[in-house]
Amino acid sequence: MAKTRSSLEAAGLTQRTANISERVKKIVVSPIKEMRILAEKVPGAISFGQGMPYVDTSPEIKEKLIFALKTKDISKYSTSPGLPELRQKLAERVMKKRGLQGILSENILVTVGAMEGLGAAIMTVINPGDEVIVVTPGFSSHIEQILLAGGKPVFVPLIEKKSWALDANAFKKAITKKTKAILLCNPSNPTGTVYSKKDLQEIEQLVLKNNLILILDEPYDFLLYDNAEFYSPASNPALKNNLIACFSFSKEFAMTGYRIGYVYADSGIINQMMKVHDAFCICAARISQEAALAALSISDEFTKDLVKKLDYNRKLVMSWLDKMPELFEYQVPKGAYYIFPRYKIENLTKKNPKLKDINSFDFCLKLLYEAKVETVPGAAFGPAGENHIRMSFGAKPEELEEGMKRLKKWSENLTQ
Ligand SMILES: Cc1ncc(COP(=O)(O)O)c(C=O)c1O
Repeated sequence: MAKTRSSLEAAGLTQRTANISERVKKIVVSPIKEMRILAEKVPGAISFGQGMPYVDTSPEIKEKLIFALKTKDISKYSTSPGLPELRQKLAERVMKKRGLQGILSENILVTVGAMEGLGAAIMTVINPGDEVIVVTPGFSSHIEQILLAGGKPVFVPLIEKKSWALDANAFKKAITKKTKAILLCNPSNPTGTVYSKKDLQEIEQLVLKNNLILILDEPYDFLLYDNAEFYSPASNPALKNNLIACFSFSKEFAMTGYRIGYVYADSGIINQMMKVHDAFCICAARISQEAALAALSISDEFTKDLVKKLDYNRKLVMSWLDKMPELFEYQVPKGAYYIFPRYKIENLTKKNPKLKDINSFDFCLKLLYEAKVETVPGAAFGPAGENHIRMSFGAKPEELEEGMKRLKKWSENLTQ
């Protein structure tokens, strides 16, 4: 197991500690972004790192945004919760997406990506010492956000052999008097699992029975493969008062750089979250709110095409991993654009004793510097992620092809 949770530290960076708060000293930059920082300094590196779709934002969105820039005064702040027209449209969107009724703009907060929504949600409901149940492997930034709020992430492992399924029983066992919330990302980053309705409904019952808050992170709800069926607990009206659902424009509309997302929750929760949102950002960037309005008006052809392209990439990466059974085994991702292979430490050790116990941080750094391939250490996603790497397949197919070629060549030298 790695001694650090930071790729930058594993690569030798030392951090200033004088005059730095305990709160901040406890957290790391998510290794997803750290690997990007390190890879930027490796000329020609191919990225399987940060999750970004390679396609550009739809030209229709861009044209509408240019029109808005020319015809409206969008140089001013919006009110803190977001443009009224956008909140109204997002309320309608949540009703349509989740088959709900009665959602009002008061139930919506426009945020700086899903990320700020998640951060504001955690700051709003978590007191220092509160426990938040997260899965492992689970999204690395959730862990940092919980720690930043003074909370304690309690890790519940997914079941790898069952394609990284939820273990509802383990959730039940993890609940204590200090449990305040459960945080779930579905489809999963980093494993690509689309959780089953049955397992999610068991978790809903635990939430209601123990009066917890269920924080949902669903930026990949549109990105499903092999006819996988997606179910969201947000569609259960009984959960209305115990739910904060965070959404994003980043992936669905290829707008990662616009930094725009939204939250759906009970208006009482939204009003409290607004305090955090105001304290940190005042409002989401007005120009990005206009872009979000434009995105909501285009046909769904753009997103359908994006899903097809990413499915092509998924198959490409899997076909290459299939050529390296000595080094990797993996579960087939059914959603999102990540795959989470395990590197077979037993084979590595047999063939090269120097690699005995190589942790995922060192594995990814070696891969970056020796093969010029950027991936993310599995340990960034909690303890069950160790001895795995996360690979995003959002990049251009020709880049992925080149990256996989490099990986194969590198792996042959490693295991010979
Ligand atoms: C699970 C998950 N949540 C949140 C985010 C952040 O999304 P946004 O760009 O909307 O802040 C990401 C981005 O990769 C993600 O994978």
